[in-house]
This record gives sequence, structure tokens and C-alpha cells, in this order.
Amino acid sequence: MTLVALAILSTRYDMVDLPVWHFLGGGKALDPAGLHLQGEFVESNLGAAEGPARSVTVRMIAQQFVFVPQCIAVPAGVPITFRITSADVVHTLSFLGTDYGLKAVPGAVTEATFTFAKAGEFKIPCHEFCGAGHYAMRGRLDVVPRDQFASLLPGERRTCELP
Ligand code: CUA
Repeated sequence: MTLVALAILSTRYDMVDLPVWHFLGGGKALDPAGLHLQGEFVESNLGAAEGPARSVTVRMIAQQFVFVPQCIAVPAGVPITFRITSADVVHTLSFLGTDYGLKAVPGAVTEATFTFAKAGEFKIPCHEFCGAGHYAMRGRLDVVPRDQFASLLPGERRTCELP
């Protein structure tokens, strides 16, 4: 069982930002059950945040059977770095109408950068069978014009309740 897990990790470790030895060492891995309590994935840190040089990072959690946040607003025409993890089992999300996809793995962070050229709405269905509610598991990405994004409050970026 452990060997199988290690074999999977050693072939897929390039998809997550924690090297395999972090899993072996234990200490630094994310605790899937405690994501909301401390660290990068506490609730106030989820959604889209602007960093240096107007870079945008989106943090989200996949869990049975929702994405948290359910809807995220991001600016069009800007590279968006997604950092996602799972609170339980493996989920795979895609952005409907694009080739973009990401795997959410418990205990690790998956990172990828995508650019959405135009404003629009993208459904985010789960593509990995993750349990009874799998078929209803979907989030949403609202891509808005850059100026509009700049004027949104953190709460509005996290809920898509746009003014
Ligand atoms: Cu999550 Cu299927």
C-alpha cells in the first residue's frame, strides 16, 4: 500500500510543489483536515489576491462536494496562478470551454498558471469520481475586465457578488 503510494508520488511529484521527501518527513505536509485552521488555505486567504507587480494568485480548496470558494472573480488578460489543495480525496477540476485543468490532492498544493484572454463565465466541474455528490460538484470562475477587477473588494472577488 505504502509502496504503491510512493510509486504514484514519485511519478507525479512534478505536479505538486512539495518534494517527495517532505511527504516522507511528514512535518511540512498540509493537514487536509486542518486547512481552515492555519496556513495558506485559511478562509480569509481564499479567492483571488493581487501580489507584487499586479500578479494574481487564486487559492481554493476542493472538498466533497464543493469548491471553496464556490465562485471566484479574476481579471482578463493577466496570468493567474492557481494554488489548490483538497480537504479529503483527489478531485480534478477543469475550466469548461478551455484546455485548462488542475488536480487537487490532499496533503499537497498543486500550482498552475493560466491566462483567460476575455471576460466571461467559466463553469468548473469536477472530473474525478470523488463520491456520491461528484456529479453535482462544480464551481465557477468569473473573468472580468481588468479595471473592474481592480475596483473589487476582497469579499467581492471571493463570492462573485459583483457590484
Ligand atoms: Cu470532486 Cu468529483
